[in-house]
Formats: sequence, structure tokens, C-alpha cells
Amino acid sequence: MTPIDPETIHDVEGVPLHSVHRHDVVVVGAGLAAMRAAVEAAKDYDVAVVSKVFPTRSHSGAAQGGIAASLANEEEDHWEWHMFDTVKGSDYLGDQDGIEILVREAPVVVREFEHMGAPFSRTPDGRIAQRLFGGHTKNFGKGGPILRACYAADRTGHALLHTLYENCVKEGVRFYPEFYVLGLIVRDDVCSGVVAWDVVNGGVHVFHAKAVMFGTGGHARIFRIASISLSSTGDGPAMALRAGIPLEDMEFLQFHPTGLYIHGILVSEAARGEGGYLVNDAGERFMKKYAPDKMELAPRDVVSRAMQREIDEGRGIGGKDFIHLDLRHLGKDKIMTQLPQIHELAWKFMHVDCVTNPIPIQPTAHYSMGGIPTDNDCQVLADGKAKKVAGFYAAGECACVSVHGANRLGTNSLLEASLFGRRAGKSIVRFLRTEPALPDLPADAAKEAIEEIDGILSATGSEKTGAIRAEMQQQMTANCAVYRNGCNLEQLRAEVASLRERYGRIRIDDKGKTFNMDLIDALELGRMLDVTEIMVASALNRTESRGGHSRTDFPKRDDANWLKHTLAHRKNGAVAFDYKPVVITRFQPQERKY
Ligand code: FUM
Repeated sequence: MTPIDPETIHDVEGVPLHSVHRHDVVVVGAGLAAMRAAVEAAKDYDVAVVSKVFPTRSHSGAAQGGIAASLANEEEDHWEWHMFDTVKGSDYLGDQDGIEILVREAPVVVREFEHMGAPFSRTPDGRIAQRLFGGHTKNFGKGGPILRACYAADRTGHALLHTLYENCVKEGVRFYPEFYVLGLIVRDDVCSGVVAWDVVNGGVHVFHAKAVMFGTGGHARIFRIASISLSSTGDGPAMALRAGIPLEDMEFLQFHPTGLYIHGILVSEAARGEGGYLVNDAGERFMKKYAPDKMELAPRDVVSRAMQREIDEGRGIGGKDFIHLDLRHLGKDKIMTQLPQIHELAWKFMHVDCVTNPIPIQPTAHYSMGGIPTDNDCQVLADGKAKKVAGFYAAGECACVSVHGANRLGTNSLLEASLFGRRAGKSIVRFLRTEPALPDLPADAAKEAIEEIDGILSATGSEKTGAIRAEMQQQMTANCAVYRNGCNLEQLRAEVASLRERYGRIRIDDKGKTFNMDLIDALELGRMLDVTEIMVASALNRTESRGGHSRTDFPKRDDANWLKHTLAHRKNGAVAFDYKPVVITRFQPQERKY
């Protein structure tokens, strides 16, 4: 790696204020969406990737079960079938123009990964192997489950992430690992870069760029029980919000049915795809009551609700708040070849050998369907609708394009991240061909960031960030999880307001600049609280049940009033809402049954 050689901005007395780096493209984050965009743009332009963790530690590496594509390697499949499943899975809130792009381009994206060197599992005749996953079906839902998820054992995200990192290195992408991006530089709907904190050495750095792309990941860490990495703190959506951009469909957060009990760590849906059962305290495969046709392979919102109902009605194992995932009938050979990581995680975290014992599991906060609004070319929408932010792109979990609507199907996330990351890279290349000059950098570009850092380092309050974060996560898991209701959400809203107020009175103990994780925790918490406030207000605002948003006081889907996307932003200290219609092309909304 070449040494960092920034231009340094000094004040009148020669004190370094901040450093400025210049690149054609600055990509923030280093997961699948980010690095896929970087690989694409780096073929033509100078690209930097700025990430708070080392790239191969990004959360995409934790994705397990697969990446969907109608390759038809194992049985007949068509992009139209994949499209129908995705639209129905989204509870008809996904935009069908975006979904059509997703499913049509999926085979190309997977084959490109193969050519980049991704080590997919193989069929006996050497093609990419495909497995079953929830909500993916044959013949527009009329047939049974379909083998559509391409995979690398149960470490698919890990395999793809490393493949992309290697390809970024090959293309000469410049990495800035362990830089925490503090804010976007946007003036008059033109983006000219980002401001970041150097976690290792301390110091504010300005990244001045012709185009900025966010692939910063999701925000499920606002929950206590979560499958997502500790770094998934909603930094990207919070930065967009602070720059005046509304966030779309934030009420929709997916609960994955099978998180390891108490830890929340992901136990891949591939375990059910390979034939695993869910059983309650009576040893009953209870999914027959909730989704008689698809059983354990119903979509995640359906399975999580069924599990939560079993638990709430006292049929959890031993009357407790967990269910059993039983893989014993699969046999040791299948478990060790297809699900080796599941075996390892269950053993290391629960001391359960899943060859001989069922795994205790519970629903876990998993995936953020909502996020920064973009068009189908990943350009960020300043008002969430038509007005664009020049030079600003987003893709993957931080963005809402929206192809997942109210509920994402398993394996459509690695697909969406890679596919829209690739599209973002291509859009940026097109943009730079027409706008080759660096936009002006405002003189005060770093002011807010410097003030935020100084404010936290010099704060003398009495509140500890760890306590506020734990309370926020506890409250979100208790009151905004699989089932919600207006009464609890109202209380939660007041609680979040009080946590935000307490955040204004924090003090951190480490006042140093190098590797100050106390400071990073405080910065992340501020952003998580911003996102939490928006999510709770959005959940309270949507008075219906749809996909991952299930209100016990409004148990039905209400297409007459709510077949629309929410756009939420902060206005005069409160959350305000706007809406936009869902794009419906091929499939009209129907009752959703599995
Ligand atoms: O269950 C899983 O392997 C997760 C996949 C996904 O979220 O797409």
C-alpha cells in the first residue's frame, strides 16, 4: 500500500487543521456493494475505499446461505419466477421496475463472480450448485420450493467478499482502512466528498471527490438480539439524514427466524433449505399451522411471526423464549459438507453438537429493508422522489432502491448488494465521463466534523455511552421487534427522546486521539440514536401490518391507505413524513399465502 500523502490544511498559526485527499471516486464502506462498485469504477478511474473496519471484516462476510439467481443449473427456472417470488415476498411494497432489474441481471452478476474466482460449491458435473431458500418457488408460486440459491457451503458472503477484495487490489483501488466517516459534504444538492476520522492515528481527513458512493451497511445493531456485526450502526443513513436527505421505509426491519438463542448470531436459512425442521416444546413442526404449503421454507416474516407466536403462547422449549432447529435427521456428512459453519457456531457459542442435538434459536434483528432512497442507477434522491444529489450514490443495505419492499427474501441481499453495487460503479463511470472536474470544496467542509469530535472529547457530562446504547438496544428488542403495537411504540418514542437527551450529556474517559474506541463508540451511538428515532416514528406512523412490520393493533395489510413508501426526515426537531407510490408493473397485489 502506498503511504498516505495528503495535502494538509493549516490555520494562520500553522497548526494542522485537517488533511485533504483527492480521488475521482470515494467509496465509503467495504462490503459487497462498496467493493463491487469500486471494482467497476476502478477500471476507468482513481478509486479510494474508506472503511471503518479492515475490508475483509465487513459484515457481508457474515452472510452465509447464498446468492439468488435463476441459473437453472439444478432444475428449470426463469427470471419471471424469481421476480414473482420477490414481489410477493416484499408484500407488494417492492418497486417492480427495480425488482425486474434485480432478477434479470442476477445470472450475469453470479457468473461474473465465478470468473473473478469465487469458490462456489459445485454440482457433480461442475456447475455452480444451487439450494432451496425460503419464499423461492417454481412456476409463479404454484410449484414447490426451487433450487435457486448459489452458494459456497455456508460461507457464501465470506467467499464473495474475499473475491472482491482481491479484485479491488488487482484493479489498483486505494484502501483507507480504519477511517470512520463522519459526514457528507453536500451543498446545493452537489456532493463533493466526505469527512473522516483517522481511527489509528487520530485527525480529521477530508476526502475530496468527483463522486461518492455509500455501501455502509445496515443498522440492525440498534437491537439487542441481532445477527449483524457490531459495526452495522447505520452510519450511512444517519449521515444522509444529517445532510437533509429523507430515509425511505425505515419501519421495515427484517427478523431472521434462526438466530442462536441469546447471542442472535445467524444460523443460516440454508439449514432449513437443506431440510432442517423447526419444532416447539411438544416436538411439533408447528409451521404446518402457519404455512402449510411451504412449511419451514416460507419467507422470513412469516416464519418469525409463527415462532414468536409459539413462544408468546407458551410453546417455546421448556416454556422459554426459544424454539428448536432440528438438523439431526440430515446426518453428519450432510451437516459437515453443506453447513460446517453452523455446526461450528452452535458448538462454540451454545455447546450444542447439532449432529446429535437440536439448536436453540430465536428471531434476531437481521436486515434493514429501509435506507437512503436511490433511483435504479443508485443515484441518491435528495427529496426521496425525483430530485437527485449530483455525485452521490448508494447501494446495498444502507440504501433503499427499493427491491425488498416490506420483506426481503433470503439470498436476495448478497444479490442486491453485488448487483446494485455494480450498477453504482457503472453509473459513476457514466457520470464522470460527462462531469470530469472536481466540484468546489466548501471552505468549511470539515467544520462540523471537527466541532463534533472536539465536543465529544471535551464533554464533561455524567452519562456513559455504553449504558445509553444498552438501554436503546434493550428497548428496541422489547418494543419494536417481530410484533409491535401503538401503545408500546408511543412509550418507546418517549424513551428514545430521553436517550437522545441523555446523549447530549455524555462524557468519555479516553481523551486521546489514537485508537480511541471510546470516541468511536460515542460517534456510532449518536448515529444509531438518529436512525432509531426515525425507525420508531415510522413504525408508529404506519397503521397497518405488512411484511416485516407487524402491528397487533392493525393486524391487516391496508392497500387502500398504505400501498406507498414512507419518506421520513427531521424537521424542526421532529420526524416529518412524506410518501411516494409503489411502482407496480407486472404483478398486482394479492393476498399473501404460503
Ligand atoms: O440465512 C442466511 O443464510 C442469510 C441469508 C440472507 O440474509 O440472505
